[in-house]
Amino acid sequence: MATRKPKAVDSLSREEAAEELDRLASEIAAHDRRYHQQDAPVISDAEYDELRKRNAAIEARFPDLTREDSPTGVVGAPPAEGFAKVRHAVPMLSLAKAYTDEDVVEFLERAKRFFEKDADFNIAFTAEPKIDGLSASLRYEKGVFVQGATRGDGTVGEDITANLKTIADIPHRLKGAGWPDVIEIRGEVYMTYAEFQALKERSAAAGGQDYVNPRNTAAGSLRQKDPAVTASRNLKFFAYAWGYTTEDPAPTQFESVQKFAGWGFRISPLMIRAKSVDELIAHYRLIEAQRSTLGYDIDGVVYKVDQLDLQRRWGFVTGEPRWAIAHKFPAEQATTTVRGIDIQVGRTGTLAPVARLDPVSVGGVTVVNVTLHNEDYIEGKDSNGQPIRDGKDIRIGDTVIIQRAGDVIPQIVDVVIEKRPKGAVAYTMPHACPVCGSPATREINEKTGKEDSRRRCTGELICPAQAVEALRHFVSRGAMDIEGLGAENIDLFFNAGLIRTAADIFTLKERRAAVQQALFERREAQAREREAAKGAARKKVLSAEERTYEGLDKLFAAIDARREPELDRFIFALGIRHVGDTTAAVLAKTFSTVEEFIRVGKEAATADDPHTVFPSINGIGDTVVGALTDFFGNERNDAVLDALLEQVTPKPYVVTVSADSVVAGKTVVFTGSLEKMSRSEAKAMAERLGAKVAGSVSAKTDLVVAGPGAGSKLKSATELGIEVIDEDEWLRRAGQGS
Ligand code: IVH
Repeated sequence: MATRKPKAVDSLSREEAAEELDRLASEIAAHDRRYHQQDAPVISDAEYDELRKRNAAIEARFPDLTREDSPTGVVGAPPAEGFAKVRHAVPMLSLAKAYTDEDVVEFLERAKRFFEKDADFNIAFTAEPKIDGLSASLRYEKGVFVQGATRGDGTVGEDITANLKTIADIPHRLKGAGWPDVIEIRGEVYMTYAEFQALKERSAAAGGQDYVNPRNTAAGSLRQKDPAVTASRNLKFFAYAWGYTTEDPAPTQFESVQKFAGWGFRISPLMIRAKSVDELIAHYRLIEAQRSTLGYDIDGVVYKVDQLDLQRRWGFVTGEPRWAIAHKFPAEQATTTVRGIDIQVGRTGTLAPVARLDPVSVGGVTVVNVTLHNEDYIEGKDSNGQPIRDGKDIRIGDTVIIQRAGDVIPQIVDVVIEKRPKGAVAYTMPHACPVCGSPATREINEKTGKEDSRRRCTGELICPAQAVEALRHFVSRGAMDIEGLGAENIDLFFNAGLIRTAADIFTLKERRAAVQQALFERREAQAREREAAKGAARKKVLSAEERTYEGLDKLFAAIDARREPELDRFIFALGIRHVGDTTAAVLAKTFSTVEEFIRVGKEAATADDPHTVFPSINGIGDTVVGALTDFFGNERNDAVLDALLEQVTPKPYVVTVSADSVVAGKTVVFTGSLEKMSRSEAKAMAERLGAKVAGSVSAKTDLVVAGPGAGSKLKSATELGIEVIDEDEWLRRAGQGS
């Protein structure tokens, strides 16, 4: 009845190993789908890692049995520290640059001279966007993706096959036919603005790390040890070149890349073939005009000689092909001075430094401040400790170069050290919260042992900045979603002293007169501003009609309408660190009621080891358990929560029932210990499938799921002639077994 104990890898026969690899490949793929596409894992991360480890161990013992679609993606597991090195069969080159139209004219002149054509003979060139991401080389053997590498120094890169395999734009098998026996497809991995923004928001909501720009984030995402992390970043890939190949894809650059599209790659829709400087430059202008609407960063246009035989004849100089050139966009840059560094305090208490600048126009937009992210960034290091801006730090008084690329947020790309005022000192982040004075500290990330790049105020709800942010979060769309009570009104009521914590929102009605007063005052102030803007200095007195605020009843009604929120929204609304909406939903599903959630949370907060109290929940790791324990261990939160629960009654979490499952309508009893899931999870799963879960066996019981150690319930089930199955069989019936 206990779960099958897998045979030791060492004792597997060849046949058994092949069978297991087959089974593991499909099992892991199924878990990947559940985790990444359906957000509904059915095993813990540790169990998942076990499967992958076992797969890798079997492959290490029988390398020749490694499947083409192996989850490991490489023969043998990559070394735990860093990535294996890959020597590129054909080096990955960089490109010569053109900055002006004249540079392009000259490039074409050089081509003509080299090929000794007369001035009016036209050689064809391709023109396509230069994507600002990371180049990667993907080796296909007999149409199967076998290895993928970073550019590295151009000669030796890193093996990131497993990570590249998670990118949807990268086919695991080439489509169509006619591909060379071996070909290394090259192209650019990048992150869209939308994905970057979404990641930043997810991370901020969960109190996670900060991300500087899409390119660095794409780079970081590709170098993850856990491919699941890469997968969650939704990176993209454009194919535009190739390295080693047993056969030219086609006689020209243009046709070769078109073929890549037929093999299942995405190629830039903006690639053209042209013959004259005028056409090339016209295309450059067209791409430049579309730049801000593409949704990803590009930094120029690449021109390449179209005919492969001509490319070969013209050849290379050190590290660059002679037959291609990157026509860069003029950087949208401007020079200005840093007047000060302000600190903003966010919902989770993060201290965010912002540089106040002398207003300056960059690419048509006036910039008055730029984010400095965190103290490492100010010092000239990114979140991995790598130098940015050549390692130059930013000081008050510094002359800096601001850049806006595409529609990306402005950033400081350089510091003019020669212009640094004498006596300018290195900036130090305050070690106390500028709003409430509580200590602001850098936490140590338990997983990585590294210091977090950001400093956080430890004042929590006594910090007005955090309190107001917490309130804004509480009412926001994904949380309690109170109509008409947006950030602006929260600020207003908070500043007027009408609400301090979430519970006060629900008693706002009792302070109707004061609420009305606050709203009137804002209206008056706004009216005065409008008048002042018109140049009329006279004070405007509001008319009687203007003084009535009909919105008020609506607002109170909207607040009342949310007194019975869904449990997952409620948990999310609490703004517990690291508890984003997905995690909140998992918690709601696991605990079903707010009482149970709080009971377990409080028990964990006083336990020696919270892990013994929290059931092992899929999708809930140590960081979340730590955050929950901290939250429930804080008496201030206790008071806030108690007051809130006097006002609102979260609805028990209801699972969507699927009526067509084989266990729908059945009464199920779980007994003994379950090894593949927690009790709450098993219960949730059964309910989702339309079954009823009972605590004891009776004549009404239809099914008993018994694990090791099952006792009296198992006995009565047998006596009553009720069907008894083990956990594996249960999972199979639930549609989740192998
Ligand atoms: S072709 C032999 N085409 O630019 C030519 N490169 O500065 C190899 N890049 O490392 C490169 N978009 O990362 C080519 N459409 C494009 C590109 C492109 C971006 C990057 C690539 C390369 C760098 C060279």
